[in-house]
Amino acid sequence: MIAPELLALMQSRRSTRRFADRPVARADLEPLFEAARTAPSATNRQPWRYNAVLDPALRARIIEAVRGKVDALRAELAGSEYLADLTAYGDFFHEPLEAAPALIIPQYRLFPDAIAALLARAGRDPRPYALADRMPSELCGAAAATMNLLLMAHAAGLAACWMAGPMLAREEIAALLALPAPFVPLGAIAIGYPAAETPAPARKPTERIVEWNLPA
Ligand SMILES: Cc1cc2nc3c(=O)[nH]c(=O)nc-3n(C[C@H](O)[C@H](O)[C@H](O)COP(=O)(O)O)c2cc1C
Repeated sequence: MIAPELLALMQSRRSTRRFADRPVARADLEPLFEAARTAPSATNRQPWRYNAVLDPALRARIIEAVRGKVDALRAELAGSEYLADLTAYGDFFHEPLEAAPALIIPQYRLFPDAIAALLARAGRDPRPYALADRMPSELCGAAAATMNLLLMAHAAGLAACWMAGPMLAREEIAALLALPAPFVPLGAIAIGYPAAETPAPARKPTERIVEWNLPA
């Protein structure tokens, strides 16, 4: 049984922000997308898509767009006592992108709420049953696929950091990649081969995250 090995793989995956000076080839990344496409999704709609950015010029333009937004954010807080707080983690907006030889831009798309549409067609108020308002299914599906991708990357000896920070420049990134509507970026993944061991951040203990509702 592979369960212990799978758990060990999950436990040893890290968000890596320092990468070896070693290029990433298309063939290195292809198994990651095979892993992503196995993910579950609501009504099996597979609301995900990826751009694998191996072109250094395009990567540089994406980083430049993110840097521009971070600079604007810094300017926004200039003179404020909160600028120091921003500086404390400001690098995390773009630093891993700059350190990595390749980027992956995960994307998701929304679908019309079929149940709400059904009720509206029947002349009923769809709001009490609006599923999309209660559960962001497409986002969850794309996140599940991206987690598969990250685990596969780790299993293949690659290292990655999935990042929300670059979404400061979400519209700019979508435009640079000419993303087909209705796909929108769901963060950016810095990816390459690891330079050094990344220490494991602490995790909440299981007792704090699970409440067992056992039979009486
Ligand atoms: C949705 C999401 C967004 C994240 N955004 C960033 C980010 O913008 N910059 C960054 O350096 N790390 C980012 N991370 C990585 C987290 O900091 C990291 O997962 C967390 O500290 C736990 O470390 P580990 O992944 O090595 O276990 C993000 C992770 C996730 C899942």
